Amino acid sequence: MKNSKADSKSNGHNQNSRRNFVKNTALFTGAAMVLPNLQINAMVNVFNDKKLKVAVIGCGGRGTGAVIQALKADENIELVAMADAFEDRLATSLINIKKEMGESKKVNVNPKNKFVGFDAAQKAMDLADVVIIATPPGFRPQHFEYAANNGKHVFMEKPLAVDVPGIRRVLAAAEKAKANKLNVVVGLQRHYQDSYLAAKEQLNQDKIGKIVSGQVYWNSGGVWVRERKPEQSELEYQMRNWYYFNWLCGDHILEQHIHNIDVANWFVGEYPISAQGMGGRQVRNGKDHGEIFDHHFVEYTYPSGAVIASQCRHQPDTMNKVSEFFQGTKGTVSTFGDNAILRGWEGNLIFEHRGKDDPNPYQVEHIKLFESIRKGGVISDAENGAKSTMSAIIGRMATYSGKVIKWEEAMQSELSLAPDNLNWDSPAPVQPNADGTYEIPTPGKTVVM
Ligand SMILES: NC(=O)c1ccc[n+]([C@@H]2O[C@H](COP(=O)([O-])OP(=O)(O)OC[C@H]3O[C@@H](n4cnc5c(N)ncnc54)[C@H](O)[C@@H]3O)[C@@H](O)[C@H]2O)c1
Repeated sequence: MKNSKADSKSNGHNQNSRRNFVKNTALFTGAAMVLPNLQINAMVNVFNDKKLKVAVIGCGGRGTGAVIQALKADENIELVAMADAFEDRLATSLINIKKEMGESKKVNVNPKNKFVGFDAAQKAMDLADVVIIATPPGFRPQHFEYAANNGKHVFMEKPLAVDVPGIRRVLAAAEKAKANKLNVVVGLQRHYQDSYLAAKEQLNQDKIGKIVSGQVYWNSGGVWVRERKPEQSELEYQMRNWYYFNWLCGDHILEQHIHNIDVANWFVGEYPISAQGMGGRQVRNGKDHGEIFDHHFVEYTYPSGAVIASQCRHQPDTMNKVSEFFQGTKGTVSTFGDNAILRGWEGNLIFEHRGKDDPNPYQVEHIKLFESIRKGGVISDAENGAKSTMSAIIGRMATYSGKVIKWEEAMQSELSLAPDNLNWDSPAPVQPNADGTYEIPTPGKTVVM
């Protein structure tokens, strides 16, 4: 995915060796919850010396990068199965993985273990101990549920759903995964990034007091468009050009801006109780742009009374900004790129982290995952991932409807966007108008729950 500079910088292939990362991250205290030593020793960990089999579900840009990062994170590991909706995507991914991994025996995908289509995911997961899930997020709840029900350790990308029924499903599967001592890492990589961890540590030490307000941003030029081809069915077209359809993507407030909303939740230490906002599409409004907005501005209110202003925009040649800024009773914290800066209200510097040589958080995610599996630990990122996804969903509900959306009410929603059990003969979940455009949400009219 061609994201803005800040996203594309580090989600690719890791250039550093595992040894360097282990060295660089020796003192790293991840967001991961690891069981205390006593419990670890008491557990029989069948994964200690085992060759870990990995399957990837969704072989696009991120799935490919995550496989390479997983293979570099552990010595005794192999990629055994791949699944994608489309054969060409899977083939390209395998070529790119082999290009990066050279002659490594870790890439060991028997041709019969390359699965294509809507039922490919389950077949690939059945062959693995650890699954990497990087499809468009509309499929995330059903894939994660299958992984949790079948005893798989998981790395899965954000967001974790596109609708509220999906969130409830992910929360239930997260409980099951935790109860079964499965490790689940979610690709909200700021939780594995030194600058954010350092800032959070300062906040824990009460350096800027209680956060009362903040501004979080994902303003960029936007992402790719995959144009319609004459031979494609409507369903295939939407699957290929998935970013622009809510049953697959959830709109860019979920798809990208979740990173910054998640930082707000993490730093404030709560999830929002309500959201209200406005948005629309002014620039990116062609037939190939499906049904999503190109800008959203949302005000989130938290139980403590903190109010966070969130803005995300996909419009070329406008101000680019991907960062977070929060105001506390004693000072401010600013996080951007690899940096974290805390200042007092007089402008005095309280703390500074400039992390241009920090380890790549996309790589650290996998090092932490495999270390935890080996040690018999349990990382449980899915609940926070689901709640941060839900925060973005109430933001979308607010901008689409123009109404105040309360978290508790929204959690009851039965409005499901992403169907289970699709096949290539299924009608596409949304249909174009006669002129080839799609229905665009209209504040004041659109029903969101
Ligand atoms: N953490 C990050 O910074 C970051 C960065 C980029 C992407 N991502 C996330 O990764 C996910 C994928 O993004 P991407 O950029 O790789 O997109 P992509 O289009 O390059 O890849 C998605 C792949 O999933 C496949 N797919 C679709 N439905 C499927 C199904 N039902 N079963 C199996 N395969 C299916 C597609 O054919 C495609 O090959 C998204 O959720 C995105 O938000 C996260």
